[in-house]
Amino acid sequence: MAERPYIVGNWKMNGTRAMLSEVRAIDRSSQRLMKVEVALAPPYTLIHAVHREVEQIGVGAQDCHPGVDGANTGDISASMVADAGAKFVILGHSERRENHNESSELIRAKITAAVEAGMRVILCCGESEATRDAGDAEAFVTKQIRESLPDVLDNPTDQLTVAYEPIWAIGTGRTPTLDDIAAMHSSIHSTLVDLYGEDHAAQVRILYGGSVKPDNAKELLAVDGVGGALVGGASLAAESFLGIVLAAA
Ligand code: G3H
Repeated sequence: MAERPYIVGNWKMNGTRAMLSEVRAIDRSSQRLMKVEVALAPPYTLIHAVHREVEQIGVGAQDCHPGVDGANTGDISASMVADAGAKFVILGHSERRENHNESSELIRAKITAAVEAGMRVILCCGESEATRDAGDAEAFVTKQIRESLPDVLDNPTDQLTVAYEPIWAIGTGRTPTLDDIAAMHSSIHSTLVDLYGEDHAAQVRILYGGSVKPDNAKELLAVDGVGGALVGGASLAAESFLGIVLAAA
């Protein structure tokens, strides 16, 4: 595991202001766990409220539009989420790729917009079950990363985190074998070396996501090349999310 693991909660389309008590509990406990970097990505509607509640943990968004401003009803730009208090944005999540037909080309434009707005990016990637069964998982993820990342980032070390999330493991209670996770993280690292060079790639954390829970977090986080976790369902309650944070400490 990386020296300072990164544990990020993605609330997806969940959460109202009633959940701010969970945020306070997560923030208070995280203050005692300085060895772990902790962050939450609430829905847009809560970013500012969460930002105002926290002292220790990071706050991010789950998406942004590739444009700066303009006539895009219902869309939110990177500078708008930054203004609300977000310091990072999750891009390329499989739920965006599948439910909103987001291409890697669009995700690349969003990453460029987010970086220009001064945000860090968590780029998600991951294969379907059919792709894994066909033995094509690593080639598929390599292609996704190459097509989604801009050729040039000023400082990939600070600007980029990658999250490997096999689609078939999201919300299902299933996870890949530890060997398969290690192999995929190694492959992602090699892709980053090709794109940005060894020195930068060595500093880019690669998270694992997909059914991470308090009871499996320790073994998943101990896998070679896993620098933290992107957590969905288990991030919605302070008790389970903190169980994962503790496993990383
Ligand atoms: O962004 C988070 C992932 O999609 C994982 O979700 O922890 O509910 O499986 P999950």
